[in-house]
Amino acid sequence: MGVKLGILGLGTVGTGTVQLLQDSAGRHPLLQEIEIYRVGVRSLDKPRVVELSTEVLTTDLESIVNDPAVDIVVEVMGGLEPARSLILKALSNGKHVVTANKAAIARFGAEIFTTANQAGVYVMLEAAVGGGIPVIQPLKQSLSVNRIHTITGIVNGTTNYILTRMQTEGSNFSDVLADAQRLGYAEADPTADVDGLDAADKIAILASLGFGGRINLQDVYTEGIRQVSKTDIAYAEKLGFVIKLLAIAKRDTPSSPLSVRVHPTLVPQAHPLASINGVYNAILVEGEPIGQVMFFGPGAGAGATASAVTSDILNLVAVLKINTAVANPLLACGHQEYCQIAPMAELITRFYARFLTNDQPGVIGKLGTCFGNYGVSLESIVQTGFQGELAEIVVVTHDVREGNFRQALAEIRNLSAIESIPSLLRVL
Ligand code: NAP
Ligand code: HSE
Repeated sequence: MGVKLGILGLGTVGTGTVQLLQDSAGRHPLLQEIEIYRVGVRSLDKPRVVELSTEVLTTDLESIVNDPAVDIVVEVMGGLEPARSLILKALSNGKHVVTANKAAIARFGAEIFTTANQAGVYVMLEAAVGGGIPVIQPLKQSLSVNRIHTITGIVNGTTNYILTRMQTEGSNFSDVLADAQRLGYAEADPTADVDGLDAADKIAILASLGFGGRINLQDVYTEGIRQVSKTDIAYAEKLGFVIKLLAIAKRDTPSSPLSVRVHPTLVPQAHPLASINGVYNAILVEGEPIGQVMFFGPGAGAGATASAVTSDILNLVAVLKINTAVANPLLACGHQEYCQIAPMAELITRFYARFLTNDQPGVIGKLGTCFGNYGVSLESIVQTGFQGELAEIVVVTHDVREGNFRQALAEIRNLSAIESIPSLLRVL
C-alpha cells in the first residue's frame, strides 16, 4: 500500500514538489510508493501547472490534517496561521509533518516539537533553511558528533542578490531593490528579507540544531541591509572586504553562552563566503574535530526547495516502512532547554566605522585618543575623501568588546569636530 501525502499549499514549493513526485523515473525507487492523496489550496479556480484530479484538490485544509488515511502532511502554504494550527493538529493526529516554513518553526518550534515528541512522530524541515541545500540533516546527523563552535551563513538570497549588484554596479540600495522586485527576485513586501528577519528565523533554526538547545527568537540580534550604502561598499572593497548579510551563531566553549546575530558584515575577500554571489546561499560550519565544512547552493526556487521537501518525505516513507515504535533520535528533535544567549555588548568583533568630520587639524588624533580610552585598538584609519566640506574618515578596529566600542563612540559623538557617523558595520 502506498504512503499517502496530504499537501497543504500548491504555490512555488508545493507545485515543485508535486512535479518532482509525478516524474519519478531515474530518482529513488521509494518515490514510487508515494501517493499524492489530497492537496489543499485557497482557490480552486486558480490555473495550475500540474495536473491533479478534482477529488485531490480541496480548500478544506482541516479535512486533510484530520483524514485518518493521510500518513504525512506536507506544509508548504507558509505564514504563521493557520499553518501553525494545522501542523499541530496533524501531529496530534499521529501524522508525520514535512514543512518549509522557517517563520513558523522559528516562532513555534518548542510547541511543535513537543507535540511531535508526545505523538511519537517527526517534523522534518530541510527546506526551511537554504532552500535546496542539505544542511539540516547534516547538522542533525553527519556532523552531530562534532563540537560545533561557529555556523556562519549567507541564508537570504534576496539580500545577497541586492548586495552583489550594489557591489558590481556601484548602485544604490533602493534602486537595486526596485529592480529586484520588478524581476521577481524580491517580494512585493521585502521587509522580512531586507530587515534581516528571514535570516534571523533561519539562524535560530540552525543554531538550535548545531548547539542542541532551543533559541528564543527575540534573543537573536537582527540588523538588515537598508543602511548599507554604495560608499561603504566602495570603501570596504579598497580595504580588501566585501559586505555580506551574515547570520552567525557562535559558542567559544561548550559552557559559554551562545552569540546569535544577523547583520551586514565586512568579509575579507579571501574568505570562502566572500565569493557567494547573487541569489545563492552558503553555510559554513566550523567544528571540532572536522574543521570547516561549507554547504553551497540555491537557497530558493521551486525545484531546489522541492528537492529538500521530497528528501524529507522520503526519509519518512522509510520510517513508515520500518514501522518502528521507537523514535529515531537522529530524526527527532530531542532538546527541551533554551540556549543561554550572550548580550551583544559582550561580543568580541572587529568594527568598521565611517565618520564625517570638520576638516580640522588633530581630528584623527582625537578619534584615536577616544578609542584608546576604552581599550579599542585600531587596525587602520584612513582619510581618503571629502563629502562637500566634510572630511571622510574610515576606521577598522582590531577585535574589541562591542560594549567598549559603543562607549568610545558615545564619547566620539560629543567631539565638536564630528559631524556624523553614517556607518557602523562589524568585520568578520
Ligand atoms: P506561495 O507560492 O505563496 O504558495 C502558497 C500556497 O499555499 C498557495 O497554493 C496557496 O493557495 C496556499 N495557501 C496559503 N494560505 C492558505 C490558506 N489559508 N488556505 C488554503 N491555502 C492556502 O508560497 P511558497 O513560495 O511556495 O512558500 C511556501 C513555504 O515555503 C513558505 O513557508 C516559504 O517560506 C517556504 N519556502 C519557500 C521557498 C521559495 O523558494 N518559494 C524557499 C524555501 C522555503 P492558492 O494557490 O490557492 O493561492
Ligand atoms: N525570501 C527568501 C530568500 C526565500 O530571499 O532567501 C527563501 O527562504
